[in-house]
Formats: sequence, structure tokens, C-alpha cells
Amino acid sequence: MNSSITRPNILVARRIFPEGIERLEAICDIDYVDQIEPLTKVELSERLKDKDGALVTGSERIDADTLKDAKALKIISNIAVGFNNFDVDAFNQKGIIGTNTPDVLTDTTADMGFALLMAISRRLSEAERWLRDGQWHHWEMGRMLGVDIHHSTLGIMGMGRIGQAIAKRGLAFGMNVIYYNRKPLSKDLEQACQATYVDKETLLKNADHVMLVMPYSADSHHFIGAKELAMMKSTATLVNIARGGIVDDNALVEALQRNQIFGAGLDVYEGEPKLHPGLLDLPNVVLAPHIGSATEKTRYSMMNLAIDNLLAGLAGEKPKTMINPEIWGK
Ligand code: DGY
Repeated sequence: MNSSITRPNILVARRIFPEGIERLEAICDIDYVDQIEPLTKVELSERLKDKDGALVTGSERIDADTLKDAKALKIISNIAVGFNNFDVDAFNQKGIIGTNTPDVLTDTTADMGFALLMAISRRLSEAERWLRDGQWHHWEMGRMLGVDIHHSTLGIMGMGRIGQAIAKRGLAFGMNVIYYNRKPLSKDLEQACQATYVDKETLLKNADHVMLVMPYSADSHHFIGAKELAMMKSTATLVNIARGGIVDDNALVEALQRNQIFGAGLDVYEGEPKLHPGLLDLPNVVLAPHIGSATEKTRYSMMNLAIDNLLAGLAGEKPKTMINPEIWGK
């Protein structure tokens, strides 16, 4: 599709590990935004004007407006598996390749889902705050009573790679795994996860722990709101490691304030990094700052896969994990 470019001019829109810059410098001229604050939309669009390729993170929103003056852009490589920050139609209209970083973060992110599930079920953040506050004087029968994870029912919303990895962790805890997905898994995959497909309502009513792992889109916006929270058991937990906006945070805060569910473990938020202020005052929530894939090994793997994709696209080769393969060869 693309003829290769001798020394491509690329944008690296956020600070990455130095080894990544070294890899890229050997081949490309780099406009490196060596900072952790995302560029504004106007800055991003300005910097993309003369670029052949770009490496971005999930925080950079790339739409038709951002791309309008980009004349030479061949590829934008996302250092994230989720690509709801890309307007794929806008990419396709301009023939720009988009790529993401699946697979390399599956198990690490599934571990994080389980970490949040365990932390909220056993009230770990609340207990630690209490202990650090000097309140622990005696063992007490009824202190910090949680809810069990083992042999309970785990309800997974979104049964892609990460959902399946979570299901397998659930099996090791003797959990009964039910799931909801746009379509059921093949029988083989269901068998491998020993998971049973149910509709959304059945999952919400029966799960002791609800785990959200689906992609964010207009269809999944506020997929969990007041109505859904009201269907859940009062002893149930909710974990969101997917994307902010899948949960209506306002409705969640109200439900948690009323103890309508047992608690929530959250890694992602509507409008992050801003948080609904009500979340910060609640004892029954465990809050993490979008670190689902954040282990050293996995973040390096994500960066390297994103660079592999970028360099392949610039060399006129099909990137390994292209999100819009439909434009390849056109
Ligand atoms: C992902 O890979 O999608 C993570 O959420 C990081 O943005």
C-alpha cells in the first residue's frame, strides 16, 4: 500500500522509555514531545502536518479535525490496546493505518482486574487507611468483614482476550463464571474458560462480582447506570478495568453512598484524570490511576510492539496489529 520512505519524519507525542527513542532515532527523524502532559488538540494537529508517522498513547484523541492538515501521514501507532481515541472512519477516509497493542498486555491487565476484585472484596484499601490512622487496638470479631471471592459467581462483561484471561483466574478460585458479550464465544473457547453465556440482566442479577472488560464505544456508553446498579446484589462488587464512560460515575457514586452494592474497584473514570469528587470520600471503593497494563515488562512490550507497527507501516509493510485492515492494499 505505501512505498517505503528513506528517513521518515515522525511524531512521538508523549514521553516513552529511552530505549524506544534509541530504536526510532536509528531510522527516523523524530519530533519528540518529551513530556507527560498530552498535547492540546491544536498542537497535535499542527505537529502532524508534516509527519509520515506518529506514535501516540490512549490519551491523544485523533479525529478528522486532528488529521485535516496531515498531508503525508501514513500511520498512527497507539501504545494501547483500546483505540476509542481513534476515529477509525477518519483514518480510513485518509488511508491512514491505525495500530494498537493487543495480546502483550492481556495477562497483566487480567491480573489487575483480579487485584481490584480482591482489594474491594476484602476491603484492603479501607483497612490499610484505618490501620495507618492508628485505629487498630484489638482484634475484633466483626472488623472489616468482606465478601468471598472463592466459590462465588463471577460475571464478566466483554469476553475478549482479557475477559477470557480473567475467567481462567476465576476458575482457579473455584468461581462459577458467567459472561455477557456482543456474541457468545465459540464452544471451544467457552469450554476452555468453563464460562456460561447469559444476557446482561441475568448476569447483573446473579453475579457476586461484576467485571467490566468491554471496549468503549457509543454503544457501551453508560452501559452500567442507575438501572443496572439497581439489578445487582447488595453484596456484589463492580470492577471496571475497561474504560471510563462505560460506567455512569454519577450513578455509581449514588449507589455506593447508599450501599446499594458492596463496593467498586476502579482503574478508569469518566473524564479521567479528573475523578467524580464523590468517589474520593467513599470508603467502599478502591481507586487506581489507569494502571491496568503497568508492569515494567508489559509496558516495554507495548512500546516495542507499537514501534514495530510504526516502522512496518513506514516501510510499506503490513503492521502486525492493524486496527483497520480493510484499507490495506487500497
Ligand atoms: C490500553 O492498553 O488500552 C490501556 O488502557 C492503556 O491505555
